Amino acid sequence: MSPDGPWWRHAVIYQVYVRSFADSDGDGIGDLPGVRSRLAYLRDLGVDALWLNPFYPSPQADAGYDVSDYRDVDPRFGTLADADALIADAHAHGLRIIVDLVPNHTSDRHPWFRAALAAPPGSRERARYLFRDGGGPDGSAPPNNWMSNFGGRAWTRVTEADGSPGQWYLHLFAPEQPDLDWTNDEVRAEFHDILRFWLDRGVDGFRIDVAHGLAKDPEMPDLGAGYATGGQAVEGHPHWDLDEVHDVYRGWRRIADAYPGDRTFVGEIWVADPARLARYLRPDELHTAFNFTFLVAPWEAGALRAAVDESMTELAEVGAPATWVLSNHDVTRHVTRYGGGAVGVRRARAAALLMLALPGGAYVYQGEELGLPEVEDLPGEVRQDPTFHRTGGIEPGRDGCRVPLPWSGTEPSYGFGPGAASWLPQPAGWAELTVERQAGDPSSMLSLYREALRHRAALPALGAGTLTWLPAGGDVLAFGRDPGFVCVVNAGDRPAAAPPGVRDARLLLASGPVGDDGTLPPDTAAWYTT
Ligand code: GLC
Repeated sequence: MSPDGPWWRHAVIYQVYVRSFADSDGDGIGDLPGVRSRLAYLRDLGVDALWLNPFYPSPQADAGYDVSDYRDVDPRFGTLADADALIADAHAHGLRIIVDLVPNHTSDRHPWFRAALAAPPGSRERARYLFRDGGGPDGSAPPNNWMSNFGGRAWTRVTEADGSPGQWYLHLFAPEQPDLDWTNDEVRAEFHDILRFWLDRGVDGFRIDVAHGLAKDPEMPDLGAGYATGGQAVEGHPHWDLDEVHDVYRGWRRIADAYPGDRTFVGEIWVADPARLARYLRPDELHTAFNFTFLVAPWEAGALRAAVDESMTELAEVGAPATWVLSNHDVTRHVTRYGGGAVGVRRARAAALLMLALPGGAYVYQGEELGLPEVEDLPGEVRQDPTFHRTGGIEPGRDGCRVPLPWSGTEPSYGFGPGAASWLPQPAGWAELTVERQAGDPSSMLSLYREALRHRAALPALGAGTLTWLPAGGDVLAFGRDPGFVCVVNAGDRPAAAPPGVRDARLLLASGPVGDDGTLPPDTAAWYTT
């Protein structure tokens, strides 16, 4: 083991959104052989592990987060043999593999849900999900006022086998994603078995989808005024972040710990309070969680520093490392979030150096290393996210951060697949952003990520550990890492003088042109060795 402890305490993990990464067969949808064919790119980028979004058989009502078989691969993405070959090849390239586990809900086509629809109220088949009788004299009112995260009600009424209007089932997401009942021992046993299935195949860990959502208040009370459906969980919410969820993860941890090789869990946990987040990372629960406090912080020195401090303080209480994340397949890409255009790119470059210098692990969402912006002008007819459709287009949804990657050439699909096809259209301007274009350009975003990751791997100061804030003025963040490393970020819109501690330091890497006297331009970060 390295002096920094197990790999997951300091890894840089690259998120592969499989359907948009690389398409091997020309159907316009990325696939596992496509990922396999690009492993050398990922190794050369310098990441340690890959997290793959769901590739299991699925009707794709929510891009694979509606799983109909947890132990196979959707034909769109390949075969189980392709998954095995990818795991083996990734390991041969020195890359670990994390797969996505979706425990809060199945697809409505999962055999369990089909059986539940065919079985009567009160049956063992229905008890795996959250079926309830409706309100009102004829049961035609939904059991409570909970809303779907994707818009509309969180309840759908079924038709019973005899054709009469029947019970309602809960779906915190799309109607095609019925929620499982995690008080049911059969559900728990099934997921233990699914974990073992993938652990036996050699995966190094799991990303847990909606990890804060599995337990629901058994009374199913109405959502009170002041409690939102989406967003981050807050104390007292009837279906987010209930205490009962922790017992599930203690059971999972025992399973993972019984395998050799530091298998790991990372939770997708949207809770507003870092202290509540830390509860999931107690030594006998999950290993890490995405740090959304950092992701949602605006590009502003005070807010960024507060997000870092709060996260590190709370996680230290339970001995868990932080993981820093700027983008994923659910949020607007950070080039755009930070202002878009040249400003957004400048800030994204600085943010990359900030993130990769912070103690702990980091996530890189495919395409951020190319500086891809959100594609905001996708026409409604190509959009696929249920959020867009269930809100009548009021919410644009998440397709704009899921557009297939540009690899090479000057015409769509820019090397994504053998032909022009891509499941979402790529903007014309992306010819400028291809891997091929950026690889040879030392001033490109790709070159910045490669350099930063190379230094990160070589410098003992980076990765696991702690930081020390250094005195710096208003819009400037400066911190040291031992031994001999300093990161300075000017998040303001005016040039800033180098803080006193770094004037004699050696400049290692910068996201923009640093002056000879150490002056940092606006929205610029720099790494120094001292
Ligand atoms: C998570 C996934 C998201 C999905 C949702 C429902 O938030 O990241 O993409 O839509 O869970 O499974």
